[in-house]
Amino acid sequence: MTSVLKRSDMCGELRLSDVGRVVTLNGWVAKSRRLGGLIFTDLRDKTGITQIVFDEDIPKDVFALAETLRSEFVVGVVGTVREREAKNKDLPTGEIEVQASALTLYSTAETPPIYVKDDDNAGEDLRMKYRYIDLRKLRMQRNLTFRHMVCKIARDYYSENGFTEVETPVLVKPTPEGARDYLVPSRVNPGNFYALPQSPQLYKQLLMAGGTDRYFQIAKCFRDEDLRADRQPEFTQIDLEMSFVTPDDVLEIQEGFLSRLMKEAMGIDVPLPLPRMCYKEAMGRFGSDKPDTRFGFELVDVSGFAATCGFSVFAGAVSAGGSVRGIKIDGGAAEFSRKETDKLADFVKTYGAKGLAWLKLTAEGVQSSFAKFLSENELAALTSAFEAKEGDLLLLVADKDKVVFDSLGALRVHIADRLGLRDPKQYNFLWVVDFPLLEEDEEAGRFKAMHHPFTAPNPDDIEKLDTAPGEVRALAYDIILNGTELGGGSIRIHDRALQSKMFEVLGLPEEETQSKFGFLLEAFRYGVPPHGGLAYGLDRLVMLLLGEESIRETMAFPKNQAAEDPVSGAPGDPGEEALRELKLRLEQE
Ligand code: AMO
Ligand code: AMP
Repeated sequence: MTSVLKRSDMCGELRLSDVGRVVTLNGWVAKSRRLGGLIFTDLRDKTGITQIVFDEDIPKDVFALAETLRSEFVVGVVGTVREREAKNKDLPTGEIEVQASALTLYSTAETPPIYVKDDDNAGEDLRMKYRYIDLRKLRMQRNLTFRHMVCKIARDYYSENGFTEVETPVLVKPTPEGARDYLVPSRVNPGNFYALPQSPQLYKQLLMAGGTDRYFQIAKCFRDEDLRADRQPEFTQIDLEMSFVTPDDVLEIQEGFLSRLMKEAMGIDVPLPLPRMCYKEAMGRFGSDKPDTRFGFELVDVSGFAATCGFSVFAGAVSAGGSVRGIKIDGGAAEFSRKETDKLADFVKTYGAKGLAWLKLTAEGVQSSFAKFLSENELAALTSAFEAKEGDLLLLVADKDKVVFDSLGALRVHIADRLGLRDPKQYNFLWVVDFPLLEEDEEAGRFKAMHHPFTAPNPDDIEKLDTAPGEVRALAYDIILNGTELGGGSIRIHDRALQSKMFEVLGLPEEETQSKFGFLLEAFRYGVPPHGGLAYGLDRLVMLLLGEESIRETMAFPKNQAAEDPVSGAPGDPGEEALRELKLRLEQE
């Protein structure tokens, strides 16, 4: 084994002020090339790159060894820092170079399957398979370091505010919270399974029953659901719970955290308190319970006008109990060609809309897919409802409310993207509050909890649990950043009777609630403080602050679209013997 040179500096740190110092650097060869009697080697570690120069004055064996260097060889170099003749303005270390006097080769490397360059254009599959090479990119190291900093700020902040970090079990009882569970067979209890936790929800409530008062945890969560850019089967929450609190208390603590995070991690002052919007307003104005408020295009409800207008699609939607709403794109008439409005129509169809009615106010008059069905007065009423002026484009959807909101909510974001209105340097935090407690599960023909079944109803609405369950508001809140749900939480039910009632409203048979949640109901017998909390999606938080497109860029070893770990090949076949021990038999395909 070659002995390790004791490092004096990191590769990204040397500056003009270091000229004359003898330094020892360790790292990977980013590239190495010979120019006449000189060898120039870029040496890289997680902090950056330094140019090393080997000249023919050094011992022959050292020069000969330097000649063998190839990309991704791992080496140690001793040398003297000197000012560079040809300075490289693109590199923080570009004003200096290290004139080598000694070289140690720790490890050679075969030609790597991906380049260690931030803009290598390698497909993500390849990047994930060779993640240990991908992670050498400065961008990936920056992301991991940033993630670590977010965790550290969270640990510091919550610790300073009386929270205790407690680890909750990872082998838990299967109690689906919404997504599918990952199951782990029990060897000593054949036929029984643990689940990996979808979140520490029940345990953090038990911690409150246990007098922990304020808990937090940076917790791994597991959900067997379909993957998306902002969803992974295995992800991390900054999870917390507090006793004796109102929603305001929980929100205030979070605002302290978010403002400190933005200041320390991003150097940005976030004015407090953060804006709050109730769910109904968010849906009405933005068609979404996670509105991106960095741009306008707010929804305008023209159902009143539409109910009696001559366009049967509009009138029909309203008489069927739905609505007609639209957005106005200022100056959009010239920006969006006919071909493009057709594309926008295809876009909203993916959200269930049957079509997209469009109208352009041009200097030559009105151009529209539906104006021919309207009288002049109706047309005037419509354009005035939108306060539309020459050059504007109106886009409308008529359908049941859910479809109208989903399609226009997505359309406004889609158009803002197209027009470059989603400034990644602007951070709009928003609390969405007063969520409905329940939402209709159309397939199952009953209600399901909008957040989770442990969320407390607003005391003012409890009466409606029997008469109008759909109208009951919850003491639940989500924190939104630029149109992404960063986190969510609620005040919990801490009353046994009310919790049982909630299970009943959700249509869970008594037997099932006993077997799944009996332990929680039992805990409620022995004295439970009122409590509530919240969990942030750490991966999403880091993604948004770094301006990354996917949470995969914030994770060291993410899963691919097929929920596999491309590095190790997990999941894998455990083998006959393991299955026999677990008393499991695989069904023949
Ligand atoms: P919830 O299910 O809303 O609440 O999750 C909280 C936050 O976790 C993040 N998140 C995810 N991130 C990546 N991949 C996923 N598959 C994924 N699923 C969720 C989101 C989300 O806002 N126990 C409750 C919290 C509470 O009530 O205190 C819970 O888990 O950013
Ligand atoms: P048609 O009468 O089918 O030619 O439709 C006229 C216009 O209305 C077209 O632009 C359609 O895309 C649009 N349209 C059809 N159904 C809807 C709907 N439910 N909401 C909004 N626009 C619609």
